[in-house]
Amino acid sequence: MKELVLASSNFKKAEEIAALFQGLPIVIKLLANFPDLPEAVENGSTFLENARLKAKHYSQYTNSACLADDSGLEVDALNSKPGVFSARFAGEQGNDADNKEKLLVELKATENRKARFCCVMVFIDVDGSQLETYGICKGEIIKESRGDGGFGYDSLFYVPEFGCTMAEMTLAEKNKISHRGKALRKMAVKLSRYMK
Ligand code: IMP
Repeated sequence: MKELVLASSNFKKAEEIAALFQGLPIVIKLLANFPDLPEAVENGSTFLENARLKAKHYSQYTNSACLADDSGLEVDALNSKPGVFSARFAGEQGNDADNKEKLLVELKATENRKARFCCVMVFIDVDGSQLETYGICKGEIIKESRGDGGFGYDSLFYVPEFGCTMAEMTLAEKNKISHRGKALRKMAVKLSRYMK
C-alpha cells in the first residue's frame, strides 16, 4: 500500500476523495496527521500553480507522496472571479456564508448567471514524479440558497442537467458530476497505471 498525504484540511473534501479512491492500493493520510507542518503559501495566480505549490510543499515536508487539489468558482459575468480567491472572496479565509452573500450582491443586477467550478489535481511522488488532471462542472448561480449539503458555494450552484443545486445532491450524486469528481476519476486512472 502506498501512503498518500492529502494536501487539505477540509474534511468534507477528504471524504469526497476517499470515496472515489476506494479500490486503489493507497492509504490516505490527512494533514491533521502531521500537526507541526508549516502551511503552504497559496500565492499562485492559477489553480494549477496553487495545486503544484501545495503538492510540492507537503510532499517535501512529510517525505511522502502527496495529492493536492486547487479548486474554485469562475463566474462569467464577473470575468471569472472569484477564481483562485474563492475561499476568501469576502475577506476571511473559508467563511462560506459571507462569500455567498458577496457573490449574490455582485450579481444582483446581472441576468447572465453562468458559472463553472474548476478543479486541478496534482500528485507528486517522493522521487518528484508528477501527475496532473483537471475537471470542470458547468452551472448557474441562483438568487437564493437551496439545500444543506456540501460546502462552499454549493447551495447557490444550480446544475441544469440535474435540476437542483449541488447542496441538494447526495455526496454520491455530487461526485458523479462535480469538477473534483471528474479530476479525481482521471487521477485514479493515471495513478493506477503509474503504480503498476
Ligand atoms: P480550495 O482552494 O480547493 O480549497 O477551494 C477554494 C474554495 O472554492 C472553497 O473554499 C470553496 O469556497 C470553493 N469550492 C471549491 N470546491 C467547491 C465545491 O465542490 N463546492 C462549493 N464550493 C467549492
